[in-house]
Amino acid sequence: MKVGIFDSGVGGITVLKKAMEYLPAVDYIYYTDNLHVPYGTKPKEEVYGYVKQIVDFLIKEGVDVIVIACNTATCIAVQRLREQTQIPIIGMEPAVKLALDDNIEGKILVTATPLTLTTDKYKNLVEHTDTNHRTVSLPLPELVQFAEERDFNEEKLCAYFAEKFSQYDLNEFRGIVLGCTHFVYFRKYLEKILPAHMKIYDGNDGTVRHLRECLLLNDKPIKDLQQKATTHVEFYYSGKKCESLDILESYLKLV
Ligand code: DGL
Repeated sequence: MKVGIFDSGVGGITVLKKAMEYLPAVDYIYYTDNLHVPYGTKPKEEVYGYVKQIVDFLIKEGVDVIVIACNTATCIAVQRLREQTQIPIIGMEPAVKLALDDNIEGKILVTATPLTLTTDKYKNLVEHTDTNHRTVSLPLPELVQFAEERDFNEEKLCAYFAEKFSQYDLNEFRGIVLGCTHFVYFRKYLEKILPAHMKIYDGNDGTVRHLRECLLLNDKPIKDLQQKATTHVEFYYSGKKCESLDILESYLKLV
């Protein structure tokens, strides 16, 4: 069983890490589009073109399932891609429903890329789940750049988050949604900065659960997916195979 996981950059490695933990006996291709990252500040059609190219590439590589480990790419492309492909495509969207269901009152801060927050898919998600208007959307595009540059300077991050959150009274909030896979690298900093009553949500667990269900539907017995094995991962940089896994491994350690 071969699974292709892709993102504009290193954010999707946070999803790959979960997938490798829960489904170690699967072969993975991880594709980072380093020539075109970031997606979240580019026009929709331009990003659609990059995403389509990646999906075509992964299908040629013979993957059985594709995971779009990118909220931005999912929001703009998943529907169109599913209409054109035969294999299952699993997408991700900000975990708004999870956060709202988990908190019967209080506001929820939904962070994502600027592009995600302007898509119809995101707007529909909010319209259907947030009936009491409890969500507040906040774009944080700089975090994508920080993660790509492996810039995790704690002092700088504290100042950055303090400035971004200064416009809100955080006592009114019960949770924050990390609606971009790059943001997951900052969970541990947010845990320190945010008040203790605010819970942090991301879509990674749900996505891997979805992948597991999808592989089971393909008649794979669960023991075959979970048996301990050295997980095989191939790493691609915008279509070029990267023989060294050093960068990938260093990011896997950061999650
Ligand atoms: N990691 C991506 C996401 O989940 C996109 C980041 C970007 O390229 O702007 O939305």
